[in-house]
Amino acid sequence: MGLSNLFKRKPKLSEKPDDKIFVDFHSHLLPGIDDGAKTPEDSIRLIQELQTQGIKAIITTPHILGDLYPNTPATIRNAEAVLRAKMAEEGISIAFHSAAEYYVDEHFLKLREKGEELMLFNGKGILIETNYVDKPEFLEQTIFDLKIDGYDVILAHPERYHYLIGQWGKIEKLFNTGVKFQSNLISFTGKYSPQIQKTADFLAKNKMIHYLGSDIHHMGHAGLISHFKRTDRYQELMELKILNNSLVVESAGNA
Ligand SMILES: [Fe+2]
Repeated sequence: MGLSNLFKRKPKLSEKPDDKIFVDFHSHLLPGIDDGAKTPEDSIRLIQELQTQGIKAIITTPHILGDLYPNTPATIRNAEAVLRAKMAEEGISIAFHSAAEYYVDEHFLKLREKGEELMLFNGKGILIETNYVDKPEFLEQTIFDLKIDGYDVILAHPERYHYLIGQWGKIEKLFNTGVKFQSNLISFTGKYSPQIQKTADFLAKNKMIHYLGSDIHHMGHAGLISHFKRTDRYQELMELKILNNSLVVESAGNA
């Protein structure tokens, strides 16, 4: 009852957005290469919104997802170059790095087998996601293999996978593999679903969240995040040891 009461109370909004997290990690800001920003103008609007929210450095993570978003280091760097040109034109200066959000499937295993370049962040950080319904049977093995190869493996939004929602034992088992968890700010708002919110709350309560991300795709997300950052619940999350600000985002080549 304690938790549900907590969320039934009317959120009190603070005067201005909190800026305790100034590195945004996990977003879809590169124009036209996944389901995020469609045009450089979209990207600029989203970046300006993040800046308004106190963000000073961005690690963006376009999908690399089989045939749906068949991105490569080349497509990502090309889109980044387009965006950087637009940022220069608009006079926007912010530390910005492009990594990726790797969907763990056979395609990903093939990339690894072939030894293809991976889009990393903060040295050897790699962000992964999985199918939302079914856990890939080779997920734990993939995490293990990546870690053996020296990668710092981060699972995007564990609270959103059906195979983990409400499955406290399974969540703990996965957490104990040493994979780091990145939760989405929007998950705590209940806007994805009450079950996702409950699972995000479980992760927070059990101190299983290493990173918080916007996972921002469009301005609708921006509004939700901006609102959430003004709530007491966001302030409570700031009590956790969130590692975002320890991520190094190179600023070379910025506008
Ligand atoms: Fe994402």
